[in-house]
Amino acid sequence: MGSSIREQILNLLLKQGEATISGEEISRQLQCSRTAIWKHINELRKEGYQIEARPKSGYRLVYRPDRVAPEELKPFLQTKWVGQKVRYKRSVDSTQPLAHDWAKEGIEEGSLVITEEQIAGRGRMGRAWHSPPHSGIWMSLILRPPIPLAQASQLTLLTSVAITRAIRKETGLNVTIKWPNDLLIDGKKTCGILTELRGEQDQVHYVVQGIGINVNVTDSVWPEELKEIATSLAIEAGRTFERPPLIASILGEIEALYEGYLNHGFQPIRILWEEYAGMLGKTITARTAGGMVKGIATGLAESGALLVETGKGTEAVFSSDIQI
Ligand code: BTN
Repeated sequence: MGSSIREQILNLLLKQGEATISGEEISRQLQCSRTAIWKHINELRKEGYQIEARPKSGYRLVYRPDRVAPEELKPFLQTKWVGQKVRYKRSVDSTQPLAHDWAKEGIEEGSLVITEEQIAGRGRMGRAWHSPPHSGIWMSLILRPPIPLAQASQLTLLTSVAITRAIRKETGLNVTIKWPNDLLIDGKKTCGILTELRGEQDQVHYVVQGIGINVNVTDSVWPEELKEIATSLAIEAGRTFERPPLIASILGEIEALYEGYLNHGFQPIRILWEEYAGMLGKTITARTAGGMVKGIATGLAESGALLVETGKGTEAVFSSDIQI
């Protein structure tokens, strides 16, 4: 992410804290005209930043809106390549098709589409995903793993582990993983992952991983039937969280785990996944394409499938809806 003039102005204002900085000083430090600075300040105001202009002393940042724009993420981001290229929109139907378009144009892996709000957020199995403005993490990450299609579900598990680690670290909340793609707190869903891909049998071309996390969402946005099964980090912790450090932490965990995965395979991810899974040892019912499978969840197969001990042997469950 190269720093734009706007980002640099924002950084200067942030550094000033309560003090003001003159237009002349900004223009000297950034080597651009006073008119250009005035234009950028007005753009920032349109984004919701309140910037006071005092006739003699200069500009002061009075209010900073809660945004997940690149200039807000950048100060926290410690990755080499994940999230270094970002497409940010205030509102979209869904980040998934935008990421697909970008991937088809050939954008490098690690590129991220992120938004404040989705009007038509997509969940698994054709379900809707509620994505109210400025209160969650709604993003799609593009990856280009050199793996066959059959292994692609391992990536969903990798990302579940990464998000679990980041949320635990940043919030202290006891998030657990429910196979294949849900993160739960006390049995209620707070995060979902939607992995979509293009490729041929022996080679994935690209993967778009849609990540939805209810961070500061209040339950008033969900229909009655969802209130029973959904939650947010804020509801569980009784306080709100800043999204940019959490996003940076998630991207950092994804980068580290993905690099490890490419070098050492799935086994280390599998061990971590089993540590964070809240369902192992429990009796589950899985609705699969081939019918219902009931038994005790015992672990993960190398392919990423869930292993279920049914009493008649161990079955590997690939794609299904699980009830615990
Ligand atoms: C699920 O649990 O069903 C998956 C939910 C995935 C939601 C995310 S939010 C960002 C990305 N854009 C979408 O439209 N969906 C995914």
